[in-house]
Amino acid sequence: MRTLLIKINAARPEKRKMRAVARILRRGGIVVFPTETVYGIGANALNGAACRKIFRVKRRAADNPLIVHVSSLEMARRVCDIPSKYQKVISDIWPAPLTIITKSKSILPKVVTAGLETAAVRMPANRIALELINECGFPIAAPSANISTKPSATSALHALGYFKGKVAAIIDGGNASYGIESTVLDLRTFSILRPGAFTAEEIKKSFGKSPRIASAYKLKANSAPISPGTKYKHYAPSTPLFLYVGRRGKIGSILSNIDDKFAFIGSSASSEKMGKNVIRIDIGSSKKEIARNLFDSLIKLDYTGANFAVVEQQSSEGLGLAIRNRLLKASSNRAFKTAKELKKLILLYSIKD
Ligand code: TXA
Ligand code: MG
Repeated sequence: MRTLLIKINAARPEKRKMRAVARILRRGGIVVFPTETVYGIGANALNGAACRKIFRVKRRAADNPLIVHVSSLEMARRVCDIPSKYQKVISDIWPAPLTIITKSKSILPKVVTAGLETAAVRMPANRIALELINECGFPIAAPSANISTKPSATSALHALGYFKGKVAAIIDGGNASYGIESTVLDLRTFSILRPGAFTAEEIKKSFGKSPRIASAYKLKANSAPISPGTKYKHYAPSTPLFLYVGRRGKIGSILSNIDDKFAFIGSSASSEKMGKNVIRIDIGSSKKEIARNLFDSLIKLDYTGANFAVVEQQSSEGLGLAIRNRLLKASSNRAFKTAKELKKLILLYSIKD
């Protein structure tokens, strides 16, 4: 299949181009498009056969449901029930990187909800995405635009690497502004199923109550190393990644003892302290910058020729909660605090996929 790369102006999407992409979706094709969080690989959410293609191309497990993207509250109501007590707050928040889990309606094909009684629905805060959905007149089901287990795409170039020849079109709408996926909030239990770009603090402020957060996300920066070898794999580069959860400021001296070709992914301040032999991937300073650069850093890492990489854990306030979650998964929970622990990880795991 020939993949069209279509550059679209994010501030003023060209009508003609939007119509061409909508036509592909209307005919049951799949396309990659930008959202404010990460790029999505989308199909007509009401067309089961079209949505099945996404699973095939992404190599995604059939029991992992898709997020349905809408451009209006009415469209959301066509696919799910939004409890009346939440209607106002959600209409105030949207468009935003907040996905709600609520009872689904039968109009949604089973492949989208993975047969669950609930659906994941969100209105993206990105003009290209919103106008595309509008132009189509139907919601777009879209997971993040990456091959399953790999880091999510935050640019058209990342998506091209994953899907060239496999999708009809890839829209280039510039780099994703958040760089990290939406927060998934289950409205029935009021709990965060996946921390994301809409912070727990923002949820508390807009809903007037605190969401439950699974304890796994709350780990302190200095907590004990998590046992390695968890079978869950997600966002993972091919280069083995180890997570530093020890005291700030000590990582430089720990790494100075390691005689190997490796990369360090960390804040600008920590990167500066690394020795010349270390491949440095500067991830920025503020949480916002780190979120925006995170997946790009993980994708770049695989081009460096490093035998393994070390990444610093972040504190859990604000966007930090989502960053920590992605780092834990990308490193398959292989965390360390001391040079001794790191050496053990290197011995056990520093063989690429
Ligand atoms: O920011 C985002 O959310 C991006 C952009 C493209 O919108 N999309 C995205 O989709 O990250 P995906 O498929 O990579 O992640 C969706 C998450 C998965 O963890 C999935 O299991 C969960 O949402 N999910 C979907 N439907 C669900 C449901 N009914 N109940 C619980 N979790 C659900
Ligand atoms: Mg994903």
